Amino acid sequence: MNDLDTLVKAAQADFAAARQGAALEDAKARFLGKSGRVTELLKGLGALAPEQKKARGAEINQAKAAIEAALQARREQLAEAELELQLQAEALDVTLPGRGRGVGGLHPVSRTIERIEAIFASMGFDVAEGPEIETDWMSFTALNNPENHPARSMQDTFYVDVKDAQGRWLCLRPHTSPMQVRYAQAHAKANAAAHTTPEIRVIAPGRVYRVDSDATHSPMFHQIEGLWLGANVSFKDLKVVFASLVRAFFETDDFDVRFRPSFFPFTEPSAEIDIRFGSGPLAGRWLEVAGSGQVHPQVVRNFGLDPEQQIGFAFGIGADRFAMLRYGIDDLRLMFDGDLRFLSQFR
Ligand code: PHE
Repeated sequence: MNDLDTLVKAAQADFAAARQGAALEDAKARFLGKSGRVTELLKGLGALAPEQKKARGAEINQAKAAIEAALQARREQLAEAELELQLQAEALDVTLPGRGRGVGGLHPVSRTIERIEAIFASMGFDVAEGPEIETDWMSFTALNNPENHPARSMQDTFYVDVKDAQGRWLCLRPHTSPMQVRYAQAHAKANAAAHTTPEIRVIAPGRVYRVDSDATHSPMFHQIEGLWLGANVSFKDLKVVFASLVRAFFETDDFDVRFRPSFFPFTEPSAEIDIRFGSGPLAGRWLEVAGSGQVHPQVVRNFGLDPEQQIGFAFGIGADRFAMLRYGIDDLRLMFDGDLRFLSQFR
């Protein structure tokens, strides 16, 4: 092995030992740099005789080419290794299972209200919404409650320590019945302007609040108010409407509806509406699901309408009760705890 072969071997070994680009460039300088070993050899040619110079020069250039080739090969190796490292560091295992996002769903009460809205819409009822912070005038006075009626007491109703612009006390509405007044008043005004007296047919779902809390009472719960007024609307119509609701909502014909005499200041006569299924887990028990009655003449007057012209009925459905019966839920509190183990069953 001559000195040039040894030199090429030494360069290859040095390049192989370089683990990074910078070390490789240092190694390159030792062989091919200005005072590198190959450069020194070329400089030495000047001292040789012309015929020797040519042969030796060709040999040195061959060795130089071999060293340059080794350098280039090592550069490519290092670049590839670096790329490989980077790919590993940034690796993404697309086969890993996803983290998953829980799929949300409607609350059973929301589902129930939507379902009841659709059923009433199919019977020609409008759907209205109103404020949860309501005047005590709308909540009680307009609905014919005397000033000293017990439902007005602080033990039963949540009051807000503020009056409205007309000096009327505000409260969290204890039922959806103020929506009878709001809707009928707006309707009466619009109709007076148009000189017509079309029927009023509306439901108003929403949250209501009472000072009450146990397994069957929550301080917040849901009602769906209903109002149907016209020239000739009677209890018979209420019974048809209610039976149609129960049939469509529970998807059965096997039930009875019963009106049980009751009292509300804003209806006369008044009745609780009970239903009884003929089959299924609840078969045979009367279940109270709504309050109802023929709208009191004074209340019709408070609407801005003439009780000689407009007669009809109102009802207030316990929306939570309907949800519990449909889904077989036995504790009202479960519905408002926000526990996902419970709620996810309704997705
Ligand atoms: N507002 C009554 C309640 O909350 C229910 C009701 C509504 C009764 C409409 C008659 C007419 O108990």
